[in-house]
Amino acid sequence: MRHFLQENDFQNEEIKQIFSTAFDLKKNRLLRPTKDLAGQSWGMLFYKQSTRTRVSFEVGIRELGGNPLILDQSSTQIGRGESIEDTAKVLSRFLDGLIIRTHGHELIEEFASHSSIPVVNALTDFLHPCQIYADCMTLLERWSGGINPCDGLKDRKLAFFGDTSCNMANSWILAGALFGMEISLCGPQSFQPDEPILKLLKDNNLSPTWTFTSDPDAGAVGADAVYTDVWVSMGCEEESQARLQAMQPYQVKDSTFNSTNENCLFMHCMPAHPEEEVSQSVLDSQRAILFDQAENRLHMQKAILSALSPHNS
Ligand code: CP
Repeated sequence: MRHFLQENDFQNEEIKQIFSTAFDLKKNRLLRPTKDLAGQSWGMLFYKQSTRTRVSFEVGIRELGGNPLILDQSSTQIGRGESIEDTAKVLSRFLDGLIIRTHGHELIEEFASHSSIPVVNALTDFLHPCQIYADCMTLLERWSGGINPCDGLKDRKLAFFGDTSCNMANSWILAGALFGMEISLCGPQSFQPDEPILKLLKDNNLSPTWTFTSDPDAGAVGADAVYTDVWVSMGCEEESQARLQAMQPYQVKDSTFNSTNENCLFMHCMPAHPEEEVSQSVLDSQRAILFDQAENRLHMQKAILSALSPHNS
């Protein structure tokens, strides 16, 4: 059974096809609706809050002719301790696919190992692959890079500011290795990438394309895009004060772009916190493409679900 838990769960040819489908679905959204999930029921199990992911998946499943079911921990028996194995096996008898947002990546891997339906990662503490695919689509649009990220993103430089140990940073490390992008991580020494993402690259024979600096003046030199994410990720609320203090030098502001390429873009997966990780002036600038990123979640996830649909494979 095919799952999409991490960016490299698809081969290069499949990635090219998925991106092609996403561009096509965007162009023809209202003209030529596709029904790749016709008659199918897909579960959406959310252990954490969400706006973009939840709405884009629900709308996307409906637009593909499918039926989305919203589930959460507290209103199912998971909240009373039913095992992941039993839950996965039972849901596999009812559903055609399962989208999960949760904390530990090992939980979604456990779900996948016991599911006979496709499982899609809608964010774990480790990776956010749907966001990255949509972000790469957004960059290709802006850079006129065609539809293949393996070609259109090659040798571009993306600087990631702030918590460089978070799931988005990990996903950029992985995407950089897959698509030949240079990833410049810039944040506090104590928030550098952890061992699991380094191991993932090694286990998959992927050469690292990232560097790390704690110097905010050096991180964005020559960048084509600057990316940041919230400083206090979901589940890290107890560390709020220490994080806000440590990350302060890494706020993305107008001067961050003094050393970038002229047309450097600003990206954020949202929700954004103005005047924390990014200044209001950068959010309001022509460089900011965060609403395109958000919209492309819909088109890209429709393409991913179509590729995973049990009846299309
Ligand atoms: N970027 C993102 O995943 O947004 P949500 O948390 O609102 O789903």
